[in-house]
Amino acid sequence: MKILVTGGAGYIGSHICVELLQAGMEVIVLDNLYNASRKALERVKQISGRTLTFYQIDIMDKAGVRNIFDRESIDCVIHAAGLKAVGESVENPMKYYRTNLGGLLNVTEEMQRHGVKNIIFSSSATVYGDPEPDQIPLKEDFPKGTCSNPYGWTKWMQEQILTDIHMADPEWNAALLRYFNPIGAHESGLIGEDQRGIPANLLPYISQVAIGKRPYIQVFGSDYPTPDGTAVRDYIHVTDLARGHVKAIDWLYNKGGLLICNLGTGRGYSVLEIIHAFEKACGKELPYKFTSRRGGDIAAYYADCSKAARELSWTAEYGIEEMCRDSWNWQRKNPDGYQ
Ligand code: NAD
Ligand code: UD1
Repeated sequence: MKILVTGGAGYIGSHICVELLQAGMEVIVLDNLYNASRKALERVKQISGRTLTFYQIDIMDKAGVRNIFDRESIDCVIHAAGLKAVGESVENPMKYYRTNLGGLLNVTEEMQRHGVKNIIFSSSATVYGDPEPDQIPLKEDFPKGTCSNPYGWTKWMQEQILTDIHMADPEWNAALLRYFNPIGAHESGLIGEDQRGIPANLLPYISQVAIGKRPYIQVFGSDYPTPDGTAVRDYIHVTDLARGHVKAIDWLYNKGGLLICNLGTGRGYSVLEIIHAFEKACGKELPYKFTSRRGGDIAAYYADCSKAARELSWTAEYGIEEMCRDSWNWQRKNPDGYQ
């Protein structure tokens, strides 16, 4: 089976490629390397002992996307390419709507033209908006919420576009996978999250403090209604997340239809719990300071993962120790990422 992975050179995409290759599938990657390195793909080949085909193409380049479908007999698309920086999306919404919505339309139009009707989409728990406390753990049948930023809205709208495509033609099979907070790295330490600039997300920031690049961690908010006052998230090992995609391919071919599914662990950890777990992994104390809450942040949420277990026969295997161990292993072996 031949799978086109858009965004396949990125953090999550590269881990997906490893799992697909190890499951015996052929992999075609489309990526413009906007937030990724060609080295990641070399390392994917090294880990899997297999090869893949890479097209350095912008997803907005319609002729380029068409050329891939003309040349390759694609069976299924995993659409992970896109922009994901929440803060930047607030400053430049047009860029986000154009790339994330336009990119999806280019891909689905070429799929349609070539009779390819299987797609897995990288969605996000952000589509739940700011849920009520009685909605936690989050279930897929809760109505989508009001997003706090344009990035979130693009995920919301991309889900809607794929739902409408499936409604118009039920032969289209679509799995909309709502990722919670992916962290960690491949256990080899060869691929991981190559954070450029000042990290906006918690784990890359902690890693940079641990390696000595930044003096201390800022803990955004200590007065949330949570056990220790810091915000709670459902962190998931990126390898577990990637394996969920292999299961989703099975689902597309064996069941089919429209699937909306959380990928998380079902367990929430606070910011302080994560810092302490990382301290164990790296063997040193990590300095932190409490600062004010970050605008748009939610106190606590985590996934109800029963649908993934039922529909995909998938549950996360790794816990917080492995997540921090592998984040640190990647950071230690690649202090400057792929540079
Ligand atoms: P990433 O930035 O590492 O990967 C995205 C990839 O898309 C990169 O390789 C980038 O070069 C590529 N890309 C960007 N614009 C492109 C364009 N115009 N044409 C072609 N390629 C382009 O991010 P990631 O963390 O691996 O995220 C992958 C997907 O999962 C994204 O859609 C993201 O929104 C989604 N997601 C991520 C998280 C997370 O916490 N990392 C959570 C939920 C959902
Ligand atoms: C963020 C995005 C979400 C996106 C996800 C993955 C926001 C509001 N949400 O989720 O849309 O899908 O990233 O890209 O940006 N924290 C600190 N100090 C830091 C960094 C983070 O205390 O330096 C805290 C945050 O307040 C939060 C938790 O750590 O409570 C996790 O933060 P982060 O890794 O940015 O993920 P989310 O905010 O959950």
